[in-house]
Amino acid sequence: MPQTVARIGIVTVSDRASRGDYADLGGPAIRDWLTRALTSPWEAVARLIPDERDQVEATLKALCDDEGCCLVVTTGGTGPAPRDVTPEATEAVIEKLMPGFGEQMRAVSLQHVPTAILSRQLAGIRGGALIINLPGKPAAIAECLDAVFPAVPYCVDLIGGPFLTTDEAFVKAFRPKQK
Ligand code: MTE
Repeated sequence: MPQTVARIGIVTVSDRASRGDYADLGGPAIRDWLTRALTSPWEAVARLIPDERDQVEATLKALCDDEGCCLVVTTGGTGPAPRDVTPEATEAVIEKLMPGFGEQMRAVSLQHVPTAILSRQLAGIRGGALIINLPGKPAAIAECLDAVFPAVPYCVDLIGGPFLTTDEAFVKAFRPKQK
């Protein structure tokens, strides 16, 4: 039986990148990281949008509900500035908050940079999708995904998604032994 192709949303939230003031580095950095990590078939559903709460909410809903994504990773808009609204938009569309993701990403990021404490990044479940916020700095993407991805395939199992496998030399997925 052919394996299901996992659809993964990659959302860059940035006023300036969406205006074309500079290139979107975050979205491609997430795609590159996932390409190295995943050995099961997957395809990216990428979006580049400004820091507008309505647009972030609508994009997350569309990726989860219409595009069939099992995982949606956002980058940007997690800080304290007035235009940073990604966590609020995420919280508005999720049914379950998954606080461990934000806790772990900040804990690991603080070992790299003291300003990691400024990120309000969170994660949660909407239907059959896990949504994870990452900060906007491209360097933060690998630091955060390295920190939490070992738990992502099992989380996707638990919400009814496809069976994700990883290159264990790059990131090792942990699944508890079944009883
Ligand atoms: N986390 C990691 N791992 N690496 C970083 O460089 N930058 C921090 C923080 N988290 C950073 C990080 C900074 S400077 C800010 S302002 C916040 O993320 C929020 O970034 P954002 O608004 O681009 O999401």
